[in-house]
Amino acid sequence: MSATEKARIAELRRQIEYHNYRYYVLDDPEIPDAEYDRLLRELQDLETTHPALISADSPTQRVGAAPLRAFAEAVHAAPMLSLENAFSDQEVADFDRRVHERLKIEGDIEYSCEPKLDGLAISLRFENGRLVQAATRGDGERGEEVTQNVRTIASIPLRLRGGDVPAIMEVRGEVFMTKTGFEAMNAAAREKGEKVFVNPRNAAAGSLRQLDPRVTAQRPLAFFSYGVGLVEGIAMPDRHSAILTSLREWGLPVSREQQCVIGIAGCRAYYAEMAKRRNALPYEIDGVVYKVDRIDQQQALGSVSRAPRWALAHKFPAQEELTRVVDIEVQVGRTGALTPVARLEPVFVGGVTVTNATLHNEDEVRRKDVRIGDTVIVRRAGDVIPEVVSVVLDRRPDDARVFQMPAHCPVCGSDITRVEGEAIARCSGGLFCAAQRKESIKHFASRRAMDIEGLGDKLVEQLVESGLIGTVADLYALKNEQLANLERMGDKSAENLVAAIAHSRSTTLPRFLYALGMREVGEATALALANHFGDLDALMQADVDRLQQVPDVGPIVATHVVDFFHQPHNQEVIATLRAAGIHWPAIEARGLTEQPLAGKTFVLTGTLEELTRDEAKAHLQTLGAKVSGSVSKRTDCVVAGSDAGSKLTRAKDLGIQVISETELLRMLREGGVV
Ligand code: IVH
Repeated sequence: MSATEKARIAELRRQIEYHNYRYYVLDDPEIPDAEYDRLLRELQDLETTHPALISADSPTQRVGAAPLRAFAEAVHAAPMLSLENAFSDQEVADFDRRVHERLKIEGDIEYSCEPKLDGLAISLRFENGRLVQAATRGDGERGEEVTQNVRTIASIPLRLRGGDVPAIMEVRGEVFMTKTGFEAMNAAAREKGEKVFVNPRNAAAGSLRQLDPRVTAQRPLAFFSYGVGLVEGIAMPDRHSAILTSLREWGLPVSREQQCVIGIAGCRAYYAEMAKRRNALPYEIDGVVYKVDRIDQQQALGSVSRAPRWALAHKFPAQEELTRVVDIEVQVGRTGALTPVARLEPVFVGGVTVTNATLHNEDEVRRKDVRIGDTVIVRRAGDVIPEVVSVVLDRRPDDARVFQMPAHCPVCGSDITRVEGEAIARCSGGLFCAAQRKESIKHFASRRAMDIEGLGDKLVEQLVESGLIGTVADLYALKNEQLANLERMGDKSAENLVAAIAHSRSTTLPRFLYALGMREVGEATALALANHFGDLDALMQADVDRLQQVPDVGPIVATHVVDFFHQPHNQEVIATLRAAGIHWPAIEARGLTEQPLAGKTFVLTGTLEELTRDEAKAHLQTLGAKVSGSVSKRTDCVVAGSDAGSKLTRAKDLGIQVISETELLRMLREGGVV
């Protein structure tokens, strides 16, 4: 073994210990889990090659760090085990093979599949049905006693339901935070200028390890159970899945996603399904867990060091990774808004290679203190644009440079203005600015606006740069020959594009209004404006007061709309578009007519299929209804989509009318708004 290897082992141990401390003791990790896992794996590999160097105090020989002194220590009657991780199909296949070999059986194994919740493990001790102690995992043998805090979590029962409860039972599960709870909590913290949490897991851990339970009580914590430790005084079922059912019957929450499958093929299908649904789930998961379902088989398999041989965590690709900020540039949006964007060293995260990440605005750059040269955590979850989460200060180079917002637009050189109290700085160049022109044309052509198929971002940029178009109105004058001369554009695609542009002439008024790209006028507002005024000329002539009669339109939106239509340039573009043949079916103006749902209060809950929430709300408001966020005695009707939860239950309890989306659509059709 070489001296460098020995030094590397020492260095890895130092680093892992430091990150353990950040993670377990301070609840404030500096690096993403994937990076931590790599450090640990590197150390494990080196120690496997050189077993003589393994020492009892190596981070590979224990799990977690010592409890904080301020909490009492709690001893687990049965140790809290950890899980072996798999990152590939091959590792899952190896696991299944080992299970077969140890059990000496041929046929498919029955597995219980569950989401791998991204929170923190907790053990709840119930004696004769009463919750007497709650403890964190700690080192697996003993953790921190957090009973007072756990008692504040609404979903954890203080007493088990039913007469037949065990004399002693340790329930094992995960405390976590829902995504919406996390967002709301961070938004409130940001408003008060308090510390925000990096992700729901840290938020859950930080909240549970508060010394003051009143603070914990304010935090939106949730809990799912996924197993048991010591159980005495009752015969438990002989399958893991049946144990979960018992737990549920005793009043303990269990994830609805749990599913029994046959063999490794079933596990794969479950993994694929959950990977697809991951971002739509209300809470974060970082993978799935496969557990041999039969308890006799689990017992035959036993455990190695700290992980059972009968379970495996199959992890999803990391959504957070480390990389370096090469530069910070400023991007100009459709409305002139300037967004600082970090140019990154390419990094594979969330399943794609990422080279840019948004920094939102100048204040965010200051708040996160991101500097050019810094190592940062980037996050890419689902289709959301990648963002810089935080800086790893430990790795800041001496020559890291502070970002300065430019005084002039980097594209057109116009002055940059930032209205007092607003976070967004803007280029004042309007459509003189090529960047704003490009963005407004991209928006106009986009799917939910005029839906011009084949007119993608790159092509718009080419068209503007080549001088073929200056405004959206110029699109309708484009000829095949002009397009066919562009790079990477053949006769056929030129023809298709001209046809797609022509096709877009037949549209709807809400789409057209949305396509114009007025500030603060999203799809729902465009819809409300269209329904209220019924026709474009009436809208163009409306003043601020008149506009504010439209549901959900306040003084700011009204001013943006008036400003937009007052600009001669915009009037000209609209006139050209109409002359080019843009048309839409007539809508009956609702502004002054009788409103069939006047005085009625609606609540929307669950997932709607046909309409977005905003659209449903705008339509209901057009018919005169009020749309509220919570169900009360004053609610007249609840529209329940799929997965409707507590609001639906409450509506039923209060005897309030509940309708489906289909019934809502019928109502809207009768009202003439869809
Ligand atoms: S079972 C006997 N099931 O993952 C095995 N753990 O990496 C004990 N976790 O400490 C754990 N979801 O905090 C199990 N459905 C699930 C889980 C789960 C999340 C966490 C738990 C555990 C860690 C191990």
